[in-house]
Amino acid sequence: MEGMRRKGKAFYLSLLGALLSAISSTAQTPRESLAPTPPMGWNSWNKFACNVSEDLMKSVADAVASNGMKEAGYQYVVIDDCWQVDRDADGNIVPDTRRFPSGMKALGDYIHSKGLKFGIYSDAGSGTCQNRPGSQGHEFQDALMYAKWGVDYLKYDWCHTETRNAQEAYSTINRALLASGRPIVLSICEWGKNQPWLWSRGIGNLWRTTDDISDHWQSKKRWPNGNCCEMGMVDILDLQVGLESFAGPGHWNDPDMLEVGNGGMTATEYRSHFSLWALLAAPLMAGNDIRSMSAETNEILTNKEVIAVDQDPLGREGRRVRKEGDLEVWSKEMSDGSRAVILFNRGSAENEIRFTWDEIGYPNHLSAKVRDLWEHRDKGEFKGSYKANVPSHGVVMLRVSP
Ligand code: GLA
Repeated sequence: MEGMRRKGKAFYLSLLGALLSAISSTAQTPRESLAPTPPMGWNSWNKFACNVSEDLMKSVADAVASNGMKEAGYQYVVIDDCWQVDRDADGNIVPDTRRFPSGMKALGDYIHSKGLKFGIYSDAGSGTCQNRPGSQGHEFQDALMYAKWGVDYLKYDWCHTETRNAQEAYSTINRALLASGRPIVLSICEWGKNQPWLWSRGIGNLWRTTDDISDHWQSKKRWPNGNCCEMGMVDILDLQVGLESFAGPGHWNDPDMLEVGNGGMTATEYRSHFSLWALLAAPLMAGNDIRSMSAETNEILTNKEVIAVDQDPLGREGRRVRKEGDLEVWSKEMSDGSRAVILFNRGSAENEIRFTWDEIGYPNHLSAKVRDLWEHRDKGEFKGSYKANVPSHGVVMLRVSP
């Protein structure tokens, strides 16, 4: 009798333990609950830099709503730097009325009328990277203004911050946004300078891990001091290795916005860029002129099977499981127990890449279904391993389901 009671107690205790650990691993702060999966949208910077206007933003919102991107999951339409020109006598931020004659509230309303969300940009320093007014000392005032305009997403940059402490700066804007009463996603853009992956969880929803991306496969230029300058796609990719464990629902590593469709890489390279960003559970912010993109670019940006890897609710960031010279295998654990796998060939000639089940966390005796996410085709059932020919600078992206 006593033994049974003890066993019963042990059972309930272990149930309670399991419950508590389930709650603590999924519990999210108010900040984290704003981005349960990596944010998806469009941002003006990579293609348009300072050439932003309400006409541009409205036509981009029209495009997202009608070209298949909205159905594929793209949500945020974000104006980057240069929309702001001044502060008024009361310290309120003043938009460029020549470029945004109807005002920011009207623009927000327009974007919302398309079923999309409105994003904006500011900076933790005295000025933005293009020397427009920054938010330092005006955080709460700016957050209230954004809320009034219907802003849903803030990208917050790191120029002109001098000796400011990054964690303090981003905590201040986080508190200001939360106090504004409007749910606003916070995109930390401090370029990885102060290891934001160590302190940003619960402060921001995503944090840049590197300097800016450029529309190149790999950087050929170096600054005179030998450091890298304009980072190419694979330069950024390499800097993500080792950061996987810091990402999860509500808090994501951000390897910067997409260059897909901007013209500096081939379609094969853009397919690699998009696939790898999805495997990294990266925010997918398109950065090309989506109003006039080719059918091929549209097809890359709206590949739903690849996007499902990015948006998987488990929120695991994938990792490189093998690198042998130019040939790599990447794998991401999915919520249904399957794995997304990328075979990546950096070399200058086509090459065969083979991987085994145990490299992606399965016993080799299992038989598993393999599906190709770019061909949209089931390849059959395989036991222990799979191999494919991968084009130069290309990927084969798979889903492996035991
Ligand atoms: C920084 C950011 C970029 C972009 C520009 C705008 O360089 O990292 O993403 O926002 O500023 O000036």
